[in-house]
Amino acid sequence: MTAQTLRGDVAVLVPAAGAGVRLGPGGPKALRELGGEPLLVHAVRRLCAAASIAQVVVAAPADSLDAVRALLEPFAPVFVLAGGASRQLSVAAALAAADPALDIVLVHDAARALAPPALIERVAAAVRAGSPAVIPVLPVIDTIKQVDDAGWVLGTVDRAALRAVQTPQGFRRDVLLAAHAAAVDEHTDDAGLAEKIGIPVQTVEGDEAALKITRPADLRLAEIFLRLP
Ligand code: CTP
Ligand code: MG
Repeated sequence: MTAQTLRGDVAVLVPAAGAGVRLGPGGPKALRELGGEPLLVHAVRRLCAAASIAQVVVAAPADSLDAVRALLEPFAPVFVLAGGASRQLSVAAALAAADPALDIVLVHDAARALAPPALIERVAAAVRAGSPAVIPVLPVIDTIKQVDDAGWVLGTVDRAALRAVQTPQGFRRDVLLAAHAAAVDEHTDDAGLAEKIGIPVQTVEGDEAALKITRPADLRLAEIFLRLP
């Protein structure tokens, strides 16, 4: 598929096909509401507000394709297809459908519904400037311990060298294609796949508003971010 491209040089893939089990009962997470609108609508609106984005490809729950297409109609150019059984398969399906003329590809979880356009642009700009793979990160706040199977502490990890990773993650298109083609096991993010094939991954500053909405309390926190001016 090569959908119309209006502007920009970036395709963004949005894995949105998850069930949202940890959020509790209430339907697929991407369609759960935050401030009266589905998480996916919040995410796509912010992506479309970023000047670099030429195309949005959404991997949606297979049984919600019509509903998702209707929701995202106002946000052309958006292409909606069925996701896979895992996040990684959903990203792969979206990647296969993205416009091959767009040399920069971002991957952005619908669950990070409030990632602001400035963060999206920061990641895209770092890829455009020459980095093959880019991830937004924040410092780790908690003290982190390594423990054994019986629950005894093996040691304290040096927190100064740790970062918590967000999305959108950005890639040169050829890099993301190669990373997914080489995938042999499941990774929770796409940079992990790129690391596996030896691609250097650059970090840029993340944004607290791009928190991943996973558990019910995250939804409450996101409501606070949504109300911030
Ligand atoms: N995702 C996807 N396809 C899957 C599983 C997950 O596209 N088969 C997407 C989710 O919709 C989400 C992102 O990947 O936007 C990150 O996944 P996660 O936060 O784990 O969401 P869910 O899998 O929906 O939540 P849970 O694990 O609690 O069921
Ligand atoms: Mg999941």
